[in-house]
Amino acid sequence: MLQHKKALITGGNSGIGYATAKELIALGATVMITGRRKTAVEQASVETGALPFVADQANLDDTDRLYQAVEQQLGKLDILFINAGITGMRAPIESVTEASFDQVMNINFKGAYFTLSRFIPLLNDGASVVILSSIVAAMHQPLSSVYQASKAALNSIARTAAAELAPRKIRVNMISPGPTRTEVLSKSGEDPQTVQTMFNQLAATIPLKRTGTPEEVAKLVAYLCGTPAAFITGSEFIIDGGMTL
Ligand SMILES: NC(=O)c1ccc[n+]([C@@H]2O[C@H](COP(=O)([O-])OP(=O)(O)OC[C@H]3O[C@@H](n4cnc5c(N)ncnc54)[C@H](OP(=O)(O)O)[C@@H]3O)[C@@H](O)[C@H]2O)c1
Repeated sequence: MLQHKKALITGGNSGIGYATAKELIALGATVMITGRRKTAVEQASVETGALPFVADQANLDDTDRLYQAVEQQLGKLDILFINAGITGMRAPIESVTEASFDQVMNINFKGAYFTLSRFIPLLNDGASVVILSSIVAAMHQPLSSVYQASKAALNSIARTAAAELAPRKIRVNMISPGPTRTEVLSKSGEDPQTVQTMFNQLAATIPLKRTGTPEEVAKLVAYLCGTPAAFITGSEFIIDGGMTL
């Protein structure tokens, strides 16, 4: 279904990006993945068959190096999955430091923005851009102000990009997962037991009584990149087991 398609996935060495690399490759695409952790990027490359590239998406020099690598190794892209992201530390607004604010915003918003911005010239007409947002973009839970704001900002640029790129038939859509079992929470500094408890508590609040899997999100990404989604742009897809009902 995605034969001869060239795809770039930011943050493809674990979680949703990793599962999506597997899914797109299974459907015939050629995929490059990024991530900051060299060993994890290389291991994911071996396991999935994706081309590896170590890059910090918060660093525009890295994004420019990535551009050159994609141009040399893949040529023009048909699929751009902007997925790299972090949750940051949980803290009330009055305690958030400038450093933790900048870290989350630089990866989730500025990094995503300039990945999109820099790669637009390398997108084929008719390409599909998928932006990994979150249901938190429309939520206002305590202790997560910066993460929530970063995803709300991301949704805003995704919609503007959908309007700007429509003349080239490039579609831009957002996927907003609810709680999905990946490494995202443990990377924010929570210990494994706390992460397990948090996911279990979240599962209990979800109408379908479970958390999501990276593979389920990956299948939605693949759908949005294929011909059946050719008339869909500027749309947000919530995949949360009914959590936001
Ligand atoms: N899991 C959930 O419940 C959930 C729900 C809604 C939305 N999301 C969003 O889903 C996306 C993927 O997260 P995940 O849940 O799959 O977590 P994950 O397993 O931690 O994966 C995140 C990926 O992004 C990469 N990454 C993070 N910062 C990066 C940077 N500055 N430069 C390049 N790569 C970077 C990570 O690689 P390195 O660690 O090597 O940098 C990793 O490959 C994120 O945008 C997250 O906000 C997750």
